[in-house]
Amino acid sequence: MTDSAYTQFTKNDFAQNVFGRRSIRKFVPDVKITRAEMQEILTQAGRAPSSMNLQPWRFVVVDSAAGKVQLHDMVMTNTPQNDTSSAMIIVFGVPHPEHDAAKIYDAAVAAGTMSQTTHDEELAEIKDYYEKMDPVTRAKVISLDAGLVTMQLTLIARAHGYDTCIIGGFNGTAVQKAFAPHPDFVPEAIVAIGQAAENGYETVRLPVAETTTFA
Ligand SMILES: Cc1cc2nc3c(=O)[nH]c(=O)nc-3n(C[C@H](O)[C@H](O)[C@H](O)COP(=O)(O)O)c2cc1C
Repeated sequence: MTDSAYTQFTKNDFAQNVFGRRSIRKFVPDVKITRAEMQEILTQAGRAPSSMNLQPWRFVVVDSAAGKVQLHDMVMTNTPQNDTSSAMIIVFGVPHPEHDAAKIYDAAVAAGTMSQTTHDEELAEIKDYYEKMDPVTRAKVISLDAGLVTMQLTLIARAHGYDTCIIGGFNGTAVQKAFAPHPDFVPEAIVAIGQAAENGYETVRLPVAETTTFA
């Protein structure tokens, strides 16, 4: 992505986007986000970092009336977000991202951002690392990466003039069965996105003295 892509943001005030963000649970109904803009948003969200750059996330954008009806009963208390948002973006974790390693690293060589030597070394390291990984560590790595792209998505949405609510309260088994692009993909979070119909409410944070120590 070129730097010029970033100048197209309609709201480009970093502090506003970060500190003005609140979880929004009621959106203006019937606001459509075009699929072209949604693809742009997800391309920009996908610039998030990930372990070994394996990008172990896939998105299912539920933006149709039929899809929303299907999702409605799976989101527990989060039906207002489901029913009023422009879309519910289901963030799936890919449990075996090492299968995409060659594709990603080949592309880096083709783009001229990586040497063939580094490519070969990294692929060998990925193979070794993921082959030996126990299931708990694997799930943790995938969830962490999925969380990072989810967070980036909320801020990119702000830069496009939209607001979001990250949703962890949903029936994972049902969502996986109904929406997973592959039966192994795990729904990690859902992001409701749309035009805010409320201000959200202010929330407090633990003081840094409580969350932080220096060593
Ligand atoms: C992993 C995760 C899961 C969440 N799940 C829900 C949810 O199911 N429903 C909801 O209304 N908000 C949910 N939230 C939003 C949090 O309640 C919210 O981020 C927190 O209260 C701080 O408020 P703020 O986002 O407005 O700063 C979730 C947030 C995260 C990060």
